[in-house]
Amino acid sequence: MVETREEIVEYLEVEGQKPLEGIVEISGAKNSALPDMAAVLLTDEEVILQNVPYLLDVYTMKDLLKHAGMEVEERDRGVFSFRLSGTPSPEAPYELVSKMRASILVLGPMLARFGRAKVSLPGGCSIGTRPVDLHLKAFEKMGAKIKVEHGYIHAYAPDGLKGAYIHFPKITVTGTENVLMAAVLSEGETVIKNAAKEPEVVDLAKMLKKMGADIQGEGTDTIRIKGVKRLNGTIHRIIPDRIEAGTFAVLSALTGGKIVIKNYPFEYLQFVDKVLKEIGVDVIPIGENQAVIKAGSLKPVEIETKEYPFFPTDLQAQFMAMLSVAEGRSKIRENIFENRFMHVPELKRLGADIQVKGRDAYIKGVKKLTGAQVKATDLRASASMVIAGLIAEGTTRIYDIYHLDRGYENIDQKLKLLGAKVRRGYEERTDL
Ligand code: UD1
Repeated sequence: MVETREEIVEYLEVEGQKPLEGIVEISGAKNSALPDMAAVLLTDEEVILQNVPYLLDVYTMKDLLKHAGMEVEERDRGVFSFRLSGTPSPEAPYELVSKMRASILVLGPMLARFGRAKVSLPGGCSIGTRPVDLHLKAFEKMGAKIKVEHGYIHAYAPDGLKGAYIHFPKITVTGTENVLMAAVLSEGETVIKNAAKEPEVVDLAKMLKKMGADIQGEGTDTIRIKGVKRLNGTIHRIIPDRIEAGTFAVLSALTGGKIVIKNYPFEYLQFVDKVLKEIGVDVIPIGENQAVIKAGSLKPVEIETKEYPFFPTDLQAQFMAMLSVAEGRSKIRENIFENRFMHVPELKRLGADIQVKGRDAYIKGVKKLTGAQVKATDLRASASMVIAGLIAEGTTRIYDIYHLDRGYENIDQKLKLLGAKVRRGYEERTDL
């Protein structure tokens, strides 16, 4: 007998070619909120975070902290207080880690603070294998004993971690953050070489310093940390999300440039803004931290993704959607993740002309995209589908839309305020 399985799937339906106009406010950065929330594990005192975005990944981190024994309280819109209550339980279970790879960020703080941690091993994900070997090797160098058994990382450092010289063979953002959080409570000095320079790493260092940590060199490729015995509580504001801002800049360029982007982090988007200029898109500051976008006819470019301060892999899919309607031939090389072209077949369903050869995507601009049914294959790919749907002729239905809610706060509402026609719907799907 053939077994059938029925499930309810959620989709986002987008009507294309509507002019967009109005103000959009950029939220707090997901990739800052996650490490900053993990860092609250490092103190007994209360930590207050402001400008925390309401995102699925942030809820997952909140659940991880609660599971570990933290009390989490919402004080106001986007303002959360965190404090340890009762006996800590330094564990991150499979159910939560499987929802979000960045859960690995609790390993460093748990190990440094409680001398042990049990964290489910993050599985594969759609954009590549994404191992955590560099995190684990660094903790071993700092004196931790690590075993991987039954799908869990078991890490022990009963006498505390020791400062060490950590030279990452490859730049890793969460790896740098994890070691940074572990090193602030370790004995002696830790040097991180080939450290990630992302603004989110610098923001974490800033927060840790307010908590009493001794850190130098954040934002460069060598970070030096002198361990301290304890950290205090603090109040810290999450920085604006440069990826969300870049996403709206692309959307504005493609829809008439009548969107005012509030909280546009010019400082973090210098390279991206240069690429936009090459494409024929000007980002114009108006007032403090606000931008409007002026676009002429779109020209082709060659882009390669690279660690900060260069072009972020997290904007690659959105730029591909834009280049698919630019005049001429563009090329995008993806250097960070080996499988981050899953959006290509979906963009092709909308009429884009893209060929992938290894790490390179060759994009030949077409006059227009046409609406179709597509799948959101990962978080940033989902944003590229929304952009493509909004400029395509007709209606686009995007499935697996939960990816979008992992990283874009209140996206439907923000788009509707700009005049976009978007709606969520549910459909019964039968799998054989
Ligand atoms: C972070 C960001 C993610 C962004 C990525 C690259 C967060 C929560 N997520 O992810 O949005 O796309 O940076 O800018 O901040 N690697 C290893 N071994 C390791 C760790 C990483 O081989 O132990 C490899 C990865 O497979 C990848 C490269 O290093 O090829 C960079 O990954 P990494 O910077 O660690 O990405 P994340 O920190 O997971």
